Amino acid sequence: MSRSILFFIAVLVSNITFCQSNSPIAIIPQPVKVEQKTGYFSLPQNIMIQAPANPELKYAITDLQKRLSVATGKKVIVSANSSAAIIKLEINKTANIPLGNEGYTLSVTSKNITIKANKPAGVFYGLQTLMQLFPKEIERNEKASNIAWKAPCVEITDYPRFGWRGLMFDVARHFFTKQEVKAYIDQMAKYKFNLLHLHLTDDEGWRIEIKSLPKLTEIGAWNVYRVGQFGTFPPPAPSEPRNFGGFYTQDDIKDLINYAKEKFVNIMPEVDVPGHSLAAIAAYPELSCSGGVKNIGVSSGESIKDWSTHTAIYDDNLCPSNEKVYEFLDKVMTEIAALFPFEYIHVGGDETFKTFWKSSDAITALMQKENLKTYEEVQGYFEKRLEKIVESKGKKFMGWDEILEGGIGPTAAVMSWRGAHDGVVSAGATANLSGGEVAAKAGHYVVMSPTEYAYLDYMQSDRVMEPHVYASLRLSKVYSFDPMPASLNSNEQKYVLGAQGNLWTEQVYTFRQAEYMTWPRAFAIAEDTWSPKENKNWDDFVRRVEAQFARFDVEEVKYAPSMYDPDFIVSKASDGKLKIELKNEVNGLDTYYSFDNSYPDRFYPKYTQPVMVVDFATQIKVITYRGKKPIGRMISMPISELKSRIK
Ligand code: ACM
Repeated sequence: MSRSILFFIAVLVSNITFCQSNSPIAIIPQPVKVEQKTGYFSLPQNIMIQAPANPELKYAITDLQKRLSVATGKKVIVSANSSAAIIKLEINKTANIPLGNEGYTLSVTSKNITIKANKPAGVFYGLQTLMQLFPKEIERNEKASNIAWKAPCVEITDYPRFGWRGLMFDVARHFFTKQEVKAYIDQMAKYKFNLLHLHLTDDEGWRIEIKSLPKLTEIGAWNVYRVGQFGTFPPPAPSEPRNFGGFYTQDDIKDLINYAKEKFVNIMPEVDVPGHSLAAIAAYPELSCSGGVKNIGVSSGESIKDWSTHTAIYDDNLCPSNEKVYEFLDKVMTEIAALFPFEYIHVGGDETFKTFWKSSDAITALMQKENLKTYEEVQGYFEKRLEKIVESKGKKFMGWDEILEGGIGPTAAVMSWRGAHDGVVSAGATANLSGGEVAAKAGHYVVMSPTEYAYLDYMQSDRVMEPHVYASLRLSKVYSFDPMPASLNSNEQKYVLGAQGNLWTEQVYTFRQAEYMTWPRAFAIAEDTWSPKENKNWDDFVRRVEAQFARFDVEEVKYAPSMYDPDFIVSKASDGKLKIELKNEVNGLDTYYSFDNSYPDRFYPKYTQPVMVVDFATQIKVITYRGKKPIGRMISMPISELKSRIK
C-alpha cells in the first residue's frame, strides 16, 4: 500500500473515532440550553488562551492555566490579545441574551473554545462548565497518561434561576480549619454556588476573633473533646481539659473572604443570638439573665435542653433586659461589619428557649415597661434593637424564621428553615405557611432553606447505614425542592432571593464527614437553585451525579453512596409475619438479598416484590447492582430493628 493511501486510511480512522459516539455531556448544575454537536475539540500541545486583563478574573485564569497543564502536561500561554488563541474568554461582547451578571455562552467547536459573558462571574461559570466537558482526569494534581484530552463540541447558553445559591457550613458545633473551609469553597465554586454562610457561633464554640472582647475566643472557642452521640454526653468533670476547638483570627477571616471572592463566592457571617449563645455566656456570664448561675461553660455536647417540653436545662441565653448585652452586640457587629464585605449579617434568632427569661425579674420589669405581652415579644424587642445595631454598621439584617414571631422591622430578611408543617403564623398570616412565605407576603426578602428539603445534616438513607441523626433526607427529595413557594404571587416572588443547603455539624466530627454529608445532596441544591425548573430530570440527574462521583474519585473528595441504599418499608401480613418492601430511589437497579447471614451477590434471590421474613431469620442482607456490577453498599438490616418500626 502506498504511503498516501496509508495516510488516507489513518485520517479516515481518526475521523471515525473523532465523530463517533460523542460521550454524553454530564454537567451539574444542568445548563439552561445545551446543544451537543458532532465532534470534539482536542487540546493541542501548546494552548494559547486569550483573556481580558480584568483583575476579577486573575484567579480564574491562573486556575485555568493550572487545570489545563498539570494533568495534561501541556503548555498554556495566556495573552490579552492573540489571534492564535484557541480558547477565548470575552467580557461585554454579548448582546440581547438574558445572561445577567452570572450567565455565559460557551461554544466548543473542533477548532476552538469561546466563552462570552457580560461580567467576570459569567466567564468563571463558563470555565466551570468547560472543565466538566473534559475527561475527569483533568482534576488530577499530577500528570495523567494515556488520556485523550478532548471536549465534545457543544453550544451552551446558561444563566442562574436564583441569585442566592448557598451552602451553610456550621463551623461552631465542630471547628473546621481555614484550609478545610477553603477546600469546601473549592468544591462549591465548581458547582456555581455563590454564597457560603458561616455559622460562626453557637453553644459549642465562638469561632471568630473579636478584638474588643478577647474572652470570646480565649474561653468561648474551647470545649472538651467528645465523640459519640452528640447531645447525650455527661457534663465534663472540672479536671477535663478544655482544649478542643479553635477559631479564626481576623486575618484568617480576611484570607477566607479573599479566597472565596476570587471564586465568586461571598461569605455571610452568622452570629447566632440570643439563643445558641452558651459559648459567649461562658466567656461573659453577666450577659445572661441568670448571671451564669447555670453556667456549664462552653457546651461539649451535653443535653442542654429538653426538646419534648421545650425547656432549657442549661441553655441560658443573652438577656434582652440587660443593656450590657446591646453594648456587647454593638462591639461584635462593629468588628464583623468591618471584616465582611457581604451586605447581610445573619443574627440567628432560632430556638431561643425562654426558660431563664421566665424566671427573671429583670425580664418581667422589661415586659411591663415596654408593654410586651409574651416572651416572643421579648425576643421581638431584642431583634428590633439588634436590627438597629446591624443597620448602624451599614449592613442588612437577616435571621431565622423565629425573628418573625415577635414582629420584625421593615428591612429585616428571613432565612426560612421551618416548613409549613411547623405552622409559623405571624405578622397577619392566616394560612399555614412557612416563615419564608409569611415574610415574602409581608414584603421581606427571604432565603429558603427548609428542613424537609435542604438540611444536609440529616441522614441520607436508612438509619442502619448512616451516623445517627434524628431525621432523614434523601437525595431525590432534595432534588424535588423548588425554592419558589407555590403560594406566592408574581409580586411576592421577587422577595425570594434563592435557597441554600445547611450543613449543621453536631454529628460531623471530621472534614471527610462534612464532605460525605454535603455531596451529592449539594449537587441537587446547586441544580435546584441554578437550573430552570423545567430542565430538571431525576434519571438524568443521577447519570450526571455518577459522572461527578468519578471526578470526586480523582480528586479524593468524599461523597455519600447512600442513593443506592434502598428504603425498607415494613408491615405485618395477615398471618402476623413481617413483610418487607424495598424501594430504590435510583431507577434501573437490581436488588439481591439473603436471610441466611451470608453476603448476597447477583446469584442470590432478586427482589421483585415484597418478601416475607423467613422464620427465625435474624437479619436480611441486601445489595444493589447495576447489571453485573455491584453498586450499592452491603446492608445488614436486623429483623429486630424492622420489628421495632412497626407501629
Ligand atoms: C435551625 O435549624 N435551628 C436554624
